[in-house]
Amino acid sequence: RVGVTIAIDGPAGSGKSTVSRRIATELGIGYLDTGAMYRALTWYALDRGIDLADQAAVVAAAGRMPLTMDSDPQDPHYFVGDTEVTGAIREPRITESVAAVSTNLGVRRWMAGEQRRRMLEARDRGSGMVAEGRDITTVVCPDADVRILLVADSEARLARRALELYGDTAPEHLEATRRQVQGRDAADSTVSEFLTPAPGVSVVDSSGLSVEQVVDAVLALVDDDL
Ligand code: C5P
Repeated sequence: RVGVTIAIDGPAGSGKSTVSRRIATELGIGYLDTGAMYRALTWYALDRGIDLADQAAVVAAAGRMPLTMDSDPQDPHYFVGDTEVTGAIREPRITESVAAVSTNLGVRRWMAGEQRRRMLEARDRGSGMVAEGRDITTVVCPDADVRILLVADSEARLARRALELYGDTAPEHLEATRRQVQGRDAADSTVSEFLTPAPGVSVVDSSGLSVEQVVDAVLALVDDDL
């Protein structure tokens, strides 16, 4: 298992962050949240007053962004320069704008290169890494040792997101969450087909499973594949 690389893709609410972080902890390997990188770039560009529609300016900002990520999978922290952005990158204004950044093909090229470099470094160092996102199994690291697409039916995804956002699954909160999740899935799916497994990618359906059960299913795949 030395230097194992694990790629986990999935839509919003599939449980991929919770599961990826648990896997990193269980296996004692690094953790890379690629969505946090897109969110941090969105925060940075807005902070600098860059028009997100100016694609070249946003790509240039990516190259200049002084992003540091600490690697504790149970409690990740993100900094841009000296400013901690861990909380800010989860705010609705970022979630609402991130698609304008993630549909920028120059940004995607830059992100994929940066993320791949981090994965391969972890492989070469022997420390290993789990990376989660939308295109890790297909674009960033199609040669990862283990590749998983985590899916869940729409009701399960909705309930998870409502719990995250509001702390409960009251009908009005489910409804508000439904509007957000549908909008984001539609925006995301214009970039690439996130919901269909590429050849060689294992699908894990987390609907109706506990975190524990999903973690066990993923660990079983890691055992099978290595
Ligand atoms: O995973 P998370 O919801 O934090 O991702 C935020 C956004 O970043 C997604 O909605 C998507 O637009 C973008 N993203 C992406 N490719 C990735 C990870 C995230 O386009 N690998």
